[in-house]
Amino acid sequence: ALVSSTSLLQTARQNKYAIGAFNVHTLEMLQAVVEAAEEAQSPLIIQSTVGTVKHLGADYIAAAATVAANRSSVPIALHLDHCSDFNVIMSCIRAGYTSVMIDASHSPFEENVAATQKVVEAANAIGINVEAELGKVGGVEDDIVVDERDALLADPAECAEFVERTGVHTLAPAIGTAHGIYKGTPNIDFDRIKRIADVVSVPLVLHGGSGIPEEQVKRAVSLGMAKMNVATELRIIFSDAIKAVFAENPEENDPRKYMVPAKQALKKAAMEKMHLCGCVGRA
Ligand code: 13P
Ligand code: ZN
Ligand code: NA
Repeated sequence: ALVSSTSLLQTARQNKYAIGAFNVHTLEMLQAVVEAAEEAQSPLIIQSTVGTVKHLGADYIAAAATVAANRSSVPIALHLDHCSDFNVIMSCIRAGYTSVMIDASHSPFEENVAATQKVVEAANAIGINVEAELGKVGGVEDDIVVDERDALLADPAECAEFVERTGVHTLAPAIGTAHGIYKGTPNIDFDRIKRIADVVSVPLVLHGGSGIPEEQVKRAVSLGMAKMNVATELRIIFSDAIKAVFAENPEENDPRKYMVPAKQALKKAAMEKMHLCGCVGRA
């Protein structure tokens, strides 16, 4: 069965590694990250965005992830990524998700606290994990000037108050990463990660995992980041492999053939991220 990610992530933080959390959009993508975790003997978090829930259906995703978990020798959690809609969160929990993110980070602090408390209360009744965000994880398209940047990043004292008041199981503090592929090198505030980790004992979540240089990932993980979300890179790798098949053979029309290199490429990429996170052999 699918498991809650809470204890997996607590163990990760205690032992200074992170668990790779991979966004998937198709059955083949889900299978690829599961095969990677199996081969790496790593715990795994499969994630879907709200967009993918709308595209595939929470029930289809949960059913596929449950089959994977039942067949697998490694612990697997199914997580709903960035969701601001309480009703969508509840329908995913009902479908079988074992972890959800309530993202009210664009609301004022008090509203974020209230929205998170409400989800934590529901989740605790059935023993699933909740993740919340403080500060704002940008997109790489957002050109942010330095003064504004500080205001967007998570404040350590607020992080401590937030976790205390909400009882949230895992926290994603904005520390300078962004969604998408960075134009240059991400400007990660490592000192801020350390100051947050000093006052918050729950596992921390690193968003915007695509494009972060290896040394920066390792440093962030060593400071307390216990989950790394990766989406864009995997989507690009998967799609590029399909494009390569059609470039070579425009007449190809069998999904059982053109999906194979894409699955292989995604599996390899997921394993590389697992090595980077230090979760290989931790199942
Ligand atoms: P990337 O698209 O940069 O990998 O970010 C993923 C993420 O944070 C999903 O929540
Ligand atoms: Zn994110
Ligand atoms: Na990124």
